[in-house]
Amino acid sequence: MHSVRPSARPSARFRSRLRLPVIGAALVLLGLSYAVLVPNGAAGADGPQSQQIEEGRKLFAVGCASCHGLHAQGGTNGGGAFTAPSLIGVGAAAVDFQVSTGRMPAQQPGAQIPQKTPVYSQDEIAALAAYVASLAPGPAIPPASSYDVSKATQEEVTRGGLLFRTNCTACHNFAGSGGALPNGKYAPSLMATTPRNIYQAMLTGPQQMPVFSDQVMRPEDKRDIIAYIVALQQSKDPGGLGLGRLGPVSEGLWGWIIGIGLLVAVAVWIGSRVPTVRREPDEPSH
Ligand code: HEC
Ligand code: HEC
Repeated sequence: MHSVRPSARPSARFRSRLRLPVIGAALVLLGLSYAVLVPNGAAGADGPQSQQIEEGRKLFAVGCASCHGLHAQGGTNGGGAFTAPSLIGVGAAAVDFQVSTGRMPAQQPGAQIPQKTPVYSQDEIAALAAYVASLAPGPAIPPASSYDVSKATQEEVTRGGLLFRTNCTACHNFAGSGGALPNGKYAPSLMATTPRNIYQAMLTGPQQMPVFSDQVMRPEDKRDIIAYIVALQQSKDPGGLGLGRLGPVSEGLWGWIIGIGLLVAVAVWIGSRVPTVRREPDEPSH
């Protein structure tokens, strides 16, 4: 355009002939820059993600819909052998937990669906989780930083131990080795579970386990509990931590903890029976 000077303006015809190619070139340039700049941004977040959801939807239709229904609305299968819950709103964390521990897809009906070698690959689990999460909001898969306990201090592990004994021992035993629950159910041993699944179990509360949402139990408390369980897993002493730092009181402390644990167990047991006892006078059949 250096030839276009005010003193030598091109004729109107020349200018209108120039306009089309210039607009065309500008559009091409805009398109190119969009293509170059945007893939890591908006288009990148949208395209592959909806592709992943679509892939998850297909996997779900084949592997999960027979029990959970084609739209994850829940249902019965095998003449009612399985009553599968609705998955609307359970979130990506529940899917990741259930499928990565091999509990899902369920195979044999029973009091409790056991863990097994996972059937799906990491990518497929991510797709299934993305699909279920796309149906309704629910707990997301926690970021790795929230369960990374590689730098946990002894103090955090100790704190985690206190929280564990308050919130988890009643079912999982003070050493995390698991325990039986009524009606053929059980709380599994925590000796082989991963930090990510400890977090997700707390977040989603599988089976009888309560949900420890982030409002009920802060993420940093969850991380301390994970640090404690990981320390238990790594400890060579099957009785639990060496408690070296606690010095001569450690034995007494263990006795105290076990005593409290027993009291908690008894309290839970009594608590679970009270409603039946109380209801009896109202029930004509009894
Ligand atoms: C044979 C039947 C069956 C199949 C197949 C099956 N499920 Fe399930 N699913 C169940 C039952 C039954 C439960 C309830 C389990 C329980 O309470 O322990 C359940 C529970 C779940 C839960 C926990 C829901 C919650 O409230 O936390 C998730 C998530 C889940 N299934 C996902 C899946 C996915 C994903 C697939 C496919 C890969 C799948 N299931 C395949 C029967 C099935
Ligand atoms: C009321 C009893 C109860 C309490 C309290 C409880 N859990 Fe659980 N927990 C269970 C049951 C039952 C299961 C098995 C669920 C299933 O198989 O679907 C379980 C499963 C788990 C799993 C999965 C293990 C695996 O191998 O996949 C983890 C991890 C876990 N619990 C951690 C905890 C932590 C940490 C706490 C305390 C913050 C806790 N639980 C409190 C009953 C309980």
